[in-house]
Amino acid sequence: MNLSRTYCRETATVALGTDVKICGWLDTMRDHGHIVFLHLRDISGVVQVVLDPESLGDLSGFKLRSESVLIVTGRLRNRTEDTVNHKLHTGKIELFAASLEIVNDSETPPFAISERDGDVLDDVDEDLRLRYRYLDLRRPKMQASLIKRHKVTKAIRDFLSDERFIEVETPVLTKSTPEGARDYLVPSRVHHGGFYALPQSPQLFKQLLMVAGLDRYFQIARCFRDEDLRPTRQPEFTQVDLETSFMTENEIIDLVERLLVTTLASVGVTVTAPFPRISYDDAMLQYGNDHPDLRYDMCITDVTHVFKNTQYNIFKGIIQSGGAIRGFAIRGQSARLGKNILQNEFAKNVIPKLGGKGLTWMKLENGELLSNIVQFFSKEELDEIVSLLDAKDGDVLVFVADRNPGLVSEILGKFRLYLVTYLALVPTVLFAPCWVTDFPMFEKSDTGWAAMHHPFTQPSSPIPDSPDDAWMSSVKAKAYDIVLNGVEIGGGSIRNHRVDQQERLFKLLGLSDKDIDEKFGFFLKALRYGAPPHGGLALGLDRLVSMILDTPSIRDVIAFPKNRMAYCPLTQAPDHVSESQLTDLSLSIVPPKA
Ligand code: AMO
Repeated sequence: MNLSRTYCRETATVALGTDVKICGWLDTMRDHGHIVFLHLRDISGVVQVVLDPESLGDLSGFKLRSESVLIVTGRLRNRTEDTVNHKLHTGKIELFAASLEIVNDSETPPFAISERDGDVLDDVDEDLRLRYRYLDLRRPKMQASLIKRHKVTKAIRDFLSDERFIEVETPVLTKSTPEGARDYLVPSRVHHGGFYALPQSPQLFKQLLMVAGLDRYFQIARCFRDEDLRPTRQPEFTQVDLETSFMTENEIIDLVERLLVTTLASVGVTVTAPFPRISYDDAMLQYGNDHPDLRYDMCITDVTHVFKNTQYNIFKGIIQSGGAIRGFAIRGQSARLGKNILQNEFAKNVIPKLGGKGLTWMKLENGELLSNIVQFFSKEELDEIVSLLDAKDGDVLVFVADRNPGLVSEILGKFRLYLVTYLALVPTVLFAPCWVTDFPMFEKSDTGWAAMHHPFTQPSSPIPDSPDDAWMSSVKAKAYDIVLNGVEIGGGSIRNHRVDQQERLFKLLGLSDKDIDEKFGFFLKALRYGAPPHGGLALGLDRLVSMILDTPSIRDVIAFPKNRMAYCPLTQAPDHVSESQLTDLSLSIVPPKA
């Protein structure tokens, strides 16, 4: 039969009695002696094939092994009522094989690929999966992730193209672009002793494209950062990088919101713009971090002023030494959180592990606050607490007090996330994006002042001739982060398009004239040739897709990721190179320092 290929899933919509050809991998097989049933799988799905000696002759001639590659032709027919498989899209039909070709055999895979009995890979070592990634990626679940990633990328490309953005590729062999991580370096053979750096982001090039007048640029850009790995970090990752000229912070935020609403809708996720905006200071106070997870309430409230005249000695001492008391309400959990859990588990165990000294808790039951220390507080104090935290019967109120106010929110922020897991709280919405704005421009590091975002971000007010520490510590940045479900999925800023401001900024960050010239001379020169006001943002594509699919790590949405040790078990990279390659590069390997 000279047939063109039909994808397995599509056989469900082809008329019964039609002859088709399907191609794919042997998923599972049931041998009934005289007749064999097999599932053939391709990227679209699975369909049942019947091998019958009546049409194929002696079946013992076929050496059928799982994961071998088959091409089958035959006629589509209905399954009998009692053999219909309701779990399968093609479960009502089967292909009665007229010919079967074993195109290629397969060794026994090191783990199950078929998902007939569900996704069974939870307890398979991840390094084994990565070593055989081509088999891991043959699993329908992994293929579905890559397909979704493709759809997201395509929606982004379509949206930005429609908005007059131009996709431009920028170099990978380049000079260091500071984003706060270590660089991956590539030695040059031609330029003795010279090294390229792989880009931590295309930051400088996209700004140069604005100087060039490209107006709106984007790129699905590979970035490289040598930093400690986490589930949301890879040494090599992908950004949706964009830059615009003549747009304000609000216009960029609006554009990115529309981009996200459209992109998420293309994969069935609904979010509504405008997204909430929280200033950095409020996020730190109310959620204890700059990437708040707004799927849950338990917003932290400062109650220090309630206790300014308190008789309760612990609070009194803390307030006198400049400390703070803050807390939040755990809604409707009074029955579940008994005294034993609150006192012996949370106060004595959990909070100290999070860096706190203790926890004050109160339960509101029948209009009355109950706790082991409630007798130390006045009625006015208790009433005000109830009103500030909008407490209702059945709520548990928790407070942390410390001499260091920053620590109070940090501990409560971590405790809030601990409670989400401990109480298995159901999120109020599935996807909760928000913007964090008004970041401090600078933060103190061990070596002096550092830029909190990156050194191309514009401060909210022009840099004075000789800024003092008070200016440095109070000035905000024209920077904005986009956060989804508690994960920073993107960040950007308005840049310094004026060369004098950019130069001043480099100096404030401790760079000498020589450093500035060597590292950024080419860039500063470009700013002198009519650089337009510009700004942009980069989304972490891996993080965005991982959030959409709710995977434990971004490794699950990257085709060939590195493992937790920044190592590729498949190709065994990084690897040693030959002596002659080292000689070509004038390099020699010295033993590591003891
Ligand atoms: P930033 O450093 O905030 O900004 O990076 C933008 C986004 O990239 C993602 N990201 C990562 N994803 C996976 N693994 C990593 N190691 C990793 N590091 C960052 C995050 C982050 O929000 N040039 C600026 C953008 C700009 O100012 O326009 C930049 O790179 O989701």
